[in-house]
Amino acid sequence: MAIRHFLQFRDFSREEYGHLFARSTWLKAKFKAFETYHPLFDRHLAMIFEKNSTRTRLSFEAGMQQLGGSSIFLSTRDTQLGRGEPVEDAAQVISRMVDIVMIRTFEQDIIERFAAHSRVPVINGLTNEYHPCQVLADIFTFIEHRGSIQGKTVAWIGDSNNMCNTWLQAAEVLDFNVHVSTPPGYEVEPERAGLFGKDNFEEFADPMDAARGAHLVTTDVWTSMGFEAENEARKKAFADWCVDADMMKAAHPQALFMHCLPAHRGEEVEAEVIDGPHSVVWDEAENRLHVQKALLEYLLLGKVETQ
Ligand code: CP
Ligand code: NVA
Repeated sequence: MAIRHFLQFRDFSREEYGHLFARSTWLKAKFKAFETYHPLFDRHLAMIFEKNSTRTRLSFEAGMQQLGGSSIFLSTRDTQLGRGEPVEDAAQVISRMVDIVMIRTFEQDIIERFAAHSRVPVINGLTNEYHPCQVLADIFTFIEHRGSIQGKTVAWIGDSNNMCNTWLQAAEVLDFNVHVSTPPGYEVEPERAGLFGKDNFEEFADPMDAARGAHLVTTDVWTSMGFEAENEARKKAFADWCVDADMMKAAHPQALFMHCLPAHRGEEVEAEVIDGPHSVVWDEAENRLHVQKALLEYLLLGKVETQ
C-alpha cells in the first residue's frame, strides 16, 4: 500500500473524513469508559517541533501511549536539524527508525520535502500555511454539538493564517461555506491556501457581516508563531477584528464559538465570548486527542471497522 501523509486538509476525501469521525467517536467512548485499546503496540511516533506547543505535543504523546505505542519528542534546539542538517537527510534517517512522524515547522515546503523522502507517514502538526489536525478536531467538535457541517456557514474573523487556510480547504472537501473577514492587507491568498476555487468562501469587509447568521464563529491570534516581528503593526490593523458579544448575537441563535488556543482575551476575542455560553473551546481542545488517535490508527493500520 502506498504511504499516505496528512500534510493538508485536502489530502483526504470526504469519505475518509467520515471514517475518521466515526472512529473518533468510538475511540473517545472507549477512552471515557477507561477501556484499554492497544492496536499500535510497539509502534513509535517521532514528533519534531520547530515551534512551541502545548496541545499538539500532549495530545499526540498521550494518544500514542493510549494506543499502546510510544512517542519521541525532538526539537530544533537539541537536534541536528537546528544546525542545518538537510531536511531530506533527516527524513531518510528518522523514517528508518520510527513508524510515523509528526512535524510542526515553518514553511509548508519543509514538511513536503520531508514527506517526499520519508519511508513512513508524515502528519502536519502545524506549518505557516496549514493546521489540519486542529480543523479535524474542530469539525468533529461541531458534529458532536450540532450534527453534519455540510451546508452550514462558518465565520472566520481575523488573520488569513494557517487555520483560516485549512478551514477554506475543509469547506471544499466537506461542502460547507466560510465567511471570511480580515483587515485590509491581510486577505486570503487562494493559491497559498491551496484552494481549487471560490465556490465555498465569501469575503466581507465588516466582521459583523461575516458573522451574520453563521453556525460557527471562529478566530485565532492576530500574530501567529514565526511572525512576531509584525506584532505591533498587527495590533493596530486588527483592532476591529475582535469577536465580541454583538458579533455572537448577529450569528445564528445556536451558533458555536471556537478558538484553537492559545487565546488572547481582549484581542481577537472578548472574555465574555470565549468564557461564555456559545464557546466550546475546551471540548475542541480535548478532541485533538480523539481525532489524532483516529488519524494515527488510519495511517498505520488502514480502515479499522467499528463493530
Ligand atoms: N492549538 C494548538 O495547536 O495548540 P498548541 O500550539 O499548544 O499545540
Ligand atoms: N495560528 C497560530 C495557531 C497556534 C496553534 C500559529 O500558527 O501560531
